[in-house]
Amino acid sequence: MSSELSPIDKAKFVSAKHAAQFVESGMRVGLGTGSTAAWLVKCLGEKVRDEGLRIKGVPTSTRTAELARDVGIDVISLDEAKWLDLTIDGADEFDGELNLIKGGGGALLQEKIVATASDRMVVIADIGKEVETLGAFPLPVEVIPFGWQTTQALVEETLVSMDVLGRDSTLRMNGEVPFVTDEGNHIIDLHLKRIGNARQLALVLNQMPGVVENGLFIDICDTVVLGFGDGKVEIRDITDGTVETERFDLQESENLFSDLTK
Ligand code: 5RP
Repeated sequence: MSSELSPIDKAKFVSAKHAAQFVESGMRVGLGTGSTAAWLVKCLGEKVRDEGLRIKGVPTSTRTAELARDVGIDVISLDEAKWLDLTIDGADEFDGELNLIKGGGGALLQEKIVATASDRMVVIADIGKEVETLGAFPLPVEVIPFGWQTTQALVEETLVSMDVLGRDSTLRMNGEVPFVTDEGNHIIDLHLKRIGNARQLALVLNQMPGVVENGLFIDICDTVVLGFGDGKVEIRDITDGTVETERFDLQESENLFSDLTK
C-alpha cells in the first residue's frame, strides 16, 4: 500500500505519525484542518482504538469534527475545553521563525482561535511548505459577506503602503459561487508574492472593518515536524532552538497505511 502513496503523502503521513506521539492521555488537543491534519486525526484514532489513548479533541472545522468522530475521538467544543494542552495542524507555508501562512483549506479563523488557546502549537508539514520569506502562497483573508467588494478594495489600497511584491486579490470560489467558511464568511486571497514584514501586515489587515481574520500566524507555532518522502522526519523547536531527526520504516508502516487509507 505504501507504494501507492505519493512522496508528498508519505511525507505528510510520517510528519503526522511523529506528532501523534506528542499526544498523551488526559490531554485536550486542538485538531487542525487539511490533508496533513487528516492523517494526524487518523493516527490518533488508531491510538484511541488500539492503545487506549483517552483525549478530548477540539476540531477546527466541521470536516475535521466529522473525521474525528468517525475514528472514535471524543469531540468537544473549545468553550467546553476552555484551554488546550496542544494543537497540531498543517500549514501552507512556514519560515525560519516558524511564522506561518494558513487558510488554504479555508479554516483559518477557527484554526487561529484554537492554536492561540493552546499551551503549544505543533505544525505538521511536508518539505514543500518551507520558505525563506512568506508570501508565495496566496494569503487568505476572511471577510464578512456584507460589503465584501468594498472591503477587498480597501485591502488592496492598504497594500500600496505595505512591504509586499504583489497586490492582486481574488475572491475564493467554490465552483460558480463564493466559498463560504464554517462561520458563514468569504475569503479573499491576496497574491503578494513576497511579504517583507508579516507582523506589520497581520496587524494592519485585522484593523480593517469587514476583515475578520488573516492567515498569518505570527509567534503562535512552537514546533514544526517536517516530513520527507523517504520516511525521514525533522523536528524543529523554536523555543529550545533544537533540531532532531527520526526515520520511519515505510515498509513497516505498510499495514497502518492500508488501515488509514481505507
Ligand atoms: C486549512 C489549513 C491547512 O492546514 C493548510 O491549508 C495545509 O493543508 P494541507 O495539509 O492539506 O497541505 O490552513 O485552513
